[in-house]
Amino acid sequence: MKRSLLLAGLAATLGVSIAACAGNMSGNSSAATASQAAGTSPAAASATPLYDAKALPPGREGKLIAYGRALFMHTQKYAPRNVAVTMSCSACHVAGGTVKRGGYLRIYGQFPQWNGRSKRFIFLQDRIAECFLYSMNGTPPPYTSKTMIAMTAYLAYISRGQPTMSKPDPQIIIAQFKAPAPPSIARGSKLYASKCSMCHGADGSGSATFPPLWGAKSFNNGAGMEKVAMMAGFVRYNMPQNAPGTLTDQQSYDVAAFVLSHARPKFVKNRMIVFPPAPASFF
Ligand code: HEC
Ligand code: HEC
Repeated sequence: MKRSLLLAGLAATLGVSIAACAGNMSGNSSAATASQAAGTSPAAASATPLYDAKALPPGREGKLIAYGRALFMHTQKYAPRNVAVTMSCSACHVAGGTVKRGGYLRIYGQFPQWNGRSKRFIFLQDRIAECFLYSMNGTPPPYTSKTMIAMTAYLAYISRGQPTMSKPDPQIIIAQFKAPAPPSIARGSKLYASKCSMCHGADGSGSATFPPLWGAKSFNNGAGMEKVAMMAGFVRYNMPQNAPGTLTDQQSYDVAAFVLSHARPKFVKNRMIVFPPAPASFF
């Protein structure tokens, strides 16, 4: 007995929020601190790691948080019906969103968040749904599903100690910067062959271990990563994965421009959220 709800309106509203988020950047970049610049691992700076499977709250609470973590790390395995890409959330939210400038997700306290473009408050679930729609080219899980609640609980857990209603600093999530000179796809192509293709494949389709960068199983054209500044910022600090930080700003732009010059899925409007029979069985 499945009820379905058309997501078109929600998708249309949310579609603008990535852009709105990116638009906030300039005002917040000064908040970047020396410690953020120094290391990519917040866990290294504090005695308590953001996520430690052995230190979770006891009982069902800890189990749900652990399940949320598993959903971030192995999304295809635990939420196969919700994703069309061959990668997990952790492909862009490195180590489950615990790495600064690597898709850092200590953002629970920033929601609900005023979204200037759509002129309404959006919830963390809306933002998660957005990454399902675009970055995972998939279908968001219902907001009351175990999947959504576990992922939200996991983000709350790694965000503990963070202030509420603070201004989001997109530069901590993924650092973005201007290209020194216009990017060159030709230079990017050479760089890709020597520094990226051994993991992501010459045809960009990835493998069982490595995420795809373009083609049918990659994120769709509505994703934040589809913007060259976003991908360049991610690559600059996180790739190549075996030697992060070794590319220059210009090289990061060149290789991102090359990657984004290839075809990828188009966002299909009118995606459906499928609601499970109520009440959800796990309560
Ligand atoms: C292809 C890369 C990619 C994948 C895969 C991906 N995301 Fe994202 N995600 C991004 C980018 C890029 C942003 C935007 C960062 C910004 O606006 O500064 C983002 C932002 C977010 C945010 C909001 C952060 C904020 O406050 O601005 C959440 C929450 C999130 N993603 C959750 C998820 C979840 C859950 C999954 C898996 C279902 C996922 N993402 C998969 C790239 C990705
Ligand atoms: C040693 C293997 C390896 C190399 C080399 C490598 N990557 Fe990655 N890449 C990964 C892995 C693994 C991830 C998933 C995130 C993580 O675990 O760090 C990833 C994630 C990504 C992502 C975000 C997820 C997606 O699929 O869109 C982009 C973009 C990316 N890499 C681009 C590049 C570029 C550009 C290069 C070359 C400069 C490169 N990578 C080199 C292994 C590699």
